[in-house]
Amino acid sequence: GAPVEVNVSDIAPGEMRTVEWRGKPVWIMHRTEAQLKGLVSDKHEAELADPDSNRPGYTPEYAKNDYRSRKPELFVCVGICTHLGCSPSPVFATGAQPGLPSDWAGGYFCPCHGSYFDLAGRVYANKPAPDNLEVPPHTFSADGSTLTIG
Ligand code: FES
Repeated sequence: GAPVEVNVSDIAPGEMRTVEWRGKPVWIMHRTEAQLKGLVSDKHEAELADPDSNRPGYTPEYAKNDYRSRKPELFVCVGICTHLGCSPSPVFATGAQPGLPSDWAGGYFCPCHGSYFDLAGRVYANKPAPDNLEVPPHTFSADGSTLTIG
């Protein structure tokens, strides 16, 4: 499939856009500073199955960092659950939500079998989904305004 180019300059902090790449939904999430802070606590990382994204196949080398992204604020991932392929829903509201921990800091919830993922697409431990959500190959233009997926 051909690479997909997206203008990301108008995605406001806290907003997510979905585009299609190779027939799959790809999410582009502009995370706020508060959301980024929530990703790096030891307490939070201890809740995850693969906090450093070491498992092969889901995270390009350049996204093996605290935010799983090239640019901390912009998260790009394939919106398909790594369990059986359902589409998780964004749940950006914080605090107790149905099916989610009482200290929920925002992320993605898969309604099919109850897996949930943080705002870097990292799966929580002991959930049916075995792996973090996939970060697809992507690059940004020099001025950061254009994202190329694929
Ligand atoms: Fe997402 Fe099973 S398909 S938890």
